[in-house]
Amino acid sequence: MTKITVLYGTETGNSELLAMDICKAGENAGLECENFGMDEIDNSDFCDIQNLLIVCSTWGDGEQPDNAIDLFDYVEGLGDGELENMKFSVLALGDTAFDLFCEAGIQWDKVLEEKGATRIFDRVDCDVDYEDDAEEWIENVISTFE
Ligand SMILES: Cc1cc2nc3c(=O)[nH]c(=O)nc-3n(C[C@H](O)[C@H](O)[C@H](O)COP(=O)(O)O)c2cc1C
Repeated sequence: MTKITVLYGTETGNSELLAMDICKAGENAGLECENFGMDEIDNSDFCDIQNLLIVCSTWGDGEQPDNAIDLFDYVEGLGDGELENMKFSVLALGDTAFDLFCEAGIQWDKVLEEKGATRIFDRVDCDVDYEDDAEEWIENVISTFE
């Protein structure tokens, strides 16, 4: 059975709720799903993930949320090609009122590609009313695994 790992980066819980929605949609489609906060997995387990879905908000001035900082730094430090067995897609949460709209999600999308992972569905950048865009991304991304 295809297994999907959802990692969320969040400060106030929006990304966490969406991660739960992603898992529900995956399980309804017959996939095995697990979800973790980005500070809840060991760095050493990260490289073994085969199907990774990231949902991450942006904080401060275009910065990673607190629970994402350590994992992001770790992934940035990996060598080129170290994630070549990984497939991924990113759902970015933000607010167009900020100059660096959805910057943290953009950084995840970029670093995963740089380290050799394969993007299976394009990143979607969501504004504060994220529900509809997020739902569409979830449907599309889950259908790529069916
Ligand atoms: C203090 C603060 C700083 C923020 N900075 C940014 C930012 O630089 N860029 C952006 O796109 N969104 C920014 N946001 C918007 C959040 O990313 C957005 O509200 C998101 O839905 C929060 O999701 P979360 O609950 O998963 O953390 C900021 C929000 C707050 C309250």
